[in-house]
Amino acid sequence: MLEIRTARLLLRQWRDVDLGQLIEMNADPKVMEFIGPPLNEDQSKAMMERARGSWEKRGYGRFAVEVLASGSVIGFVGLAQTRIDAHFAPTVEIGWRLSTQYWGHGYATEGALAVKDFAFEDLGLPEIVSFTSVQNLRSRRVMEKIGLLRSPFDDFEHPNASLSDTLRANVLYRGFAPSQTS
Ligand SMILES: CC(C)(COP(=O)(O)OP(=O)(O)OC[C@H]1O[C@@H](n2cnc3c(N)ncnc32)[C@H](O)[C@@H]1OP(=O)(O)O)[C@@H](O)C(=O)NCCC(=O)NCCS
Repeated sequence: MLEIRTARLLLRQWRDVDLGQLIEMNADPKVMEFIGPPLNEDQSKAMMERARGSWEKRGYGRFAVEVLASGSVIGFVGLAQTRIDAHFAPTVEIGWRLSTQYWGHGYATEGALAVKDFAFEDLGLPEIVSFTSVQNLRSRRVMEKIGLLRSPFDDFEHPNASLSDTLRANVLYRGFAPSQTS
């Protein structure tokens, strides 16, 4: 499914005009506080290309998120294949990132719930995961609100060398398709 409408959001494919928002968001230290160093323009361009490539290759990826009422692009939610060197990989990860002025309106949760349904109902995936540094409470709250579950046995050290030591300790949340749990 290339587009999903929720009550307030349009999750859609990337357009070239979205690049400005992506560059600004990824360069914001507040947005990147728990993710890693802010990204430069080339890194954000590469990110958009990876997202488009994932859609072409796998039939899923990160959606650009647009607020229906205003037409503003506010960030992304979506799925990515993760191949990090960790006990649960390779697998499919659900993730989100929004510009700060749009935080606190429930947009990430609303978009992520739709993406979770897409993963289980349309793609037929048995499981998705989400992970973040222990301190990223906002993102962990989104994981909890969409029904993902954390087991402390899944906690892990993120292997990415660009992460500061304080961001290495990560928590893993898992979500299972309804057919797996009934
Ligand atoms: C994580 C992020 C997408 C959340 O977006 P959002 O639209 O504000 O999320 P929502 O409004 O749907 O939900 C946020 C929840 O976190 C809670 N929250 C906010 N700040 C918090 C804090 N400091 N501690 C604990 N919970 C917090 C909110 O109260 C809300 O929960 P509630 O509905 O139960 O009150 C956004 O903050 C962001 O882009 N952060 C930077 C990028 C990032 O870290 N991405 C995740 C990488 S794994």
